[in-house]
Order: sequence, then structure tokens, then C-alpha cells
Amino acid sequence: MAVVSIVYHSGYGHTKAIAEAVHKGAAAAGATAHLMAVDVVNWDTLAASDAIIFGSPTYMGGVSAQFKAFADASSKVWFGQGWKDKLAAGFTVSASRNGDKASTLDYFQTLSFQHSMLWVSMGLMPGNNSSKGSEADLNRMGSYDGLSVQANADQGVEGIHESDFRTAEALGKRVADVAARWAR
Ligand SMILES: Cc1cc2nc3c(=O)[nH]c(=O)nc-3n(C[C@H](O)[C@H](O)[C@H](O)COP(=O)(O)O)c2cc1C
Repeated sequence: MAVVSIVYHSGYGHTKAIAEAVHKGAAAAGATAHLMAVDVVNWDTLAASDAIIFGSPTYMGGVSAQFKAFADASSKVWFGQGWKDKLAAGFTVSASRNGDKASTLDYFQTLSFQHSMLWVSMGLMPGNNSSKGSEADLNRMGSYDGLSVQANADQGVEGIHESDFRTAEALGKRVADVAARWAR
């Protein structure tokens, strides 16, 4: 059984809610799934994982300072290349539809590359990009590299579209499925 860990920071709860949905999708697909916030990281659990999924809100066009502190702390693992050949994926939440979320997803990839990990893309066609599309479409934000979620700045978790939660579950399932193949 594949082991998938989700490591996230969330200042105001939006990214936490999405992290929980990613975790739900991975567990439903049969993975042993671990969810951890960056301030309570279990490094042994990460070392025993087949895949690590990174999550952060987009703050000022990049990962949050708290997520970056986790990334910097992972340099101890980097020295020994302890995460080499593990799978990696990522998700971010921001208030604007674009909001420079791509910079955050790019950073997750750079982090994974420094660790010699293998990046898993969304594996979904973009939604809501034609006259027949709608906000209810899976992958409504239309990103390929990782999960992009939009959350209204003046609302809590209730302001996140239901399709973003389904898309988060789909990412968890995809990483769990690929990790199971990779583990074999
Ligand atoms: C310090 C700070 C910087 C932010 N920078 C951006 C930004 O660059 N782009 C954007 O679209 N939203 C930005 N936002 C909005 C957050 O990304 C958005 O509220 C997100 O849902 C927060 O996630 P969280 O509740 O998990 O912390 C910023 C919010 C804060 C507090």
C-alpha cells in the first residue's frame, strides 16, 4: 500500500480545508495518507512516504513564510538526498483567480527537483473554458502543474467552490494511484 503525506501551511483555514480534501481523496484511493501542518512535521513519516504533496496559500506571489521555513528545514534531508525518487505534487489557494498562484506551484516543483523527487501533474483537462463550461467543472481554474484553488478574500471556507474540493480529492486520488504503481 502506498504511503502519501500531505504537508501544508494555512494562515486562515482555506488551505487547511483543501489539504483535508486532498487527504480524503488519497485515503479513498487506498493509500495510507498522512496530513500534517508545517509546524508539526513528522520527518520520520515523510521519510517513510512514497509521495509528498506540498500545500501553501499564495502570499505576495509565492509560498507563505511558514511554508518556506519548512522548505528550508528540509535542507537537512536534502544533504543526504533522503527524498530522492519519491513522488511530489502541490496545491495552492489564493483570493484572485490568477493571483500569481503559478509562482507558488513553480516553487513546489523547484523544491521537489532539489530533492530529486518526481513531479506528478494534475492529470485533468482544464474545466470552465468554453461556452458549455461552468464553475462546477472539475479543475475549473484550469491548471496542469498542480491544484489551483480560488477562495474569496472576505469569506471563510464556505467561500470555496464545491468543485475545488472535488478537484482536490482528484489530486489526492491521482497521487495515490501513481504512488501505488511506483511502489510496485
Ligand atoms: C499576506 C497575504 C498575502 C496574500 N497574497 C496574495 C496574492 O499574492 N495573491 C492572491 O490572489 N491572494 C493573496 N492573498 C489572499 C490569500 O491567498 C487567500 O486569502 C487564501 O485563501 C489564504 O489561504 P489560507 O486561509 O490557507 O491562509 C494574500 C493573503 C495574505 C494574508
